[in-house]
Amino acid sequence: MFLAMTPTQILLGVNVDHVATVRQARYRQHSLDHGDEVEPDCVAFALASEAAGADGITMHLREDCRHVQDSDIQRAHTQIGTRLNLEMACTQEMIDYALELKPDSVCLVPENREEITTEGGLDIVGHKSRVGEVVAAMSEAGIVTSLFIDPDPAQIEMSAELGSPWIELHTGTYANAYYHAGRNREFDTLRRGAELGHNLGLIINAGHGINYANIAEVVTLPHLHELNIGHSIISRALFVGVDQAVREMKAFL
Ligand code: PXP
Repeated sequence: MFLAMTPTQILLGVNVDHVATVRQARYRQHSLDHGDEVEPDCVAFALASEAAGADGITMHLREDCRHVQDSDIQRAHTQIGTRLNLEMACTQEMIDYALELKPDSVCLVPENREEITTEGGLDIVGHKSRVGEVVAAMSEAGIVTSLFIDPDPAQIEMSAELGSPWIELHTGTYANAYYHAGRNREFDTLRRGAELGHNLGLIINAGHGINYANIAEVVTLPHLHELNIGHSIISRALFVGVDQAVREMKAFL
């Protein structure tokens, strides 16, 4: 039921990884078990984002733990009131981790170079059986799966074939082309990808490189359910605070 609903407003997922990146730059040792005592705390940022209207919080536990730590995710999971979206690679360690944590959703992303398609999304065509196994395991556990893919018809069609309810279209190539000649072409590729995914019954999310300039055009993509945004909101929060940074982004949605 929840999956079939089309919200009248595009939802905002705030990715707090780079708050932890800043913390790790100074407090690599302390953060393992005292992440809440040293600044900046990514969970405090998540709670402030929710208070300002964020609809969900995204965290990516990387294999090298270079930004958020397990302890951050555990704290966020118990403290946040919206939804926790865990970005993860398709490794057995991460699958076991997610099945035990039970976040609301997982977004499968590449961890290694070999798993990346030309432009940067997860190559699910090349890793069909592994991705299919993860989608099946997550849905059996009641966890919604999203696949972070390029807006490539083959990747979108395979997402539907593997039974993933959601995809997250990689907007990074478009964002990089925003001030260059390829912008219209990249935007059109995203638009056609969103149409195709929607026609195949997929819920369409998007993310990567979305900022306060390109958001005005991004929101005109058809069928958008949720945008996952991190770097630009965190960067703006340095100057105006978390509350205003999130509210300004929400106003575009
Ligand atoms: N979506 C996914 C799958 C990502 O990996 C990231 C980056 O961590 C984002 C969205 C957010 O990207 P940005 O920080 O550029 O907004």
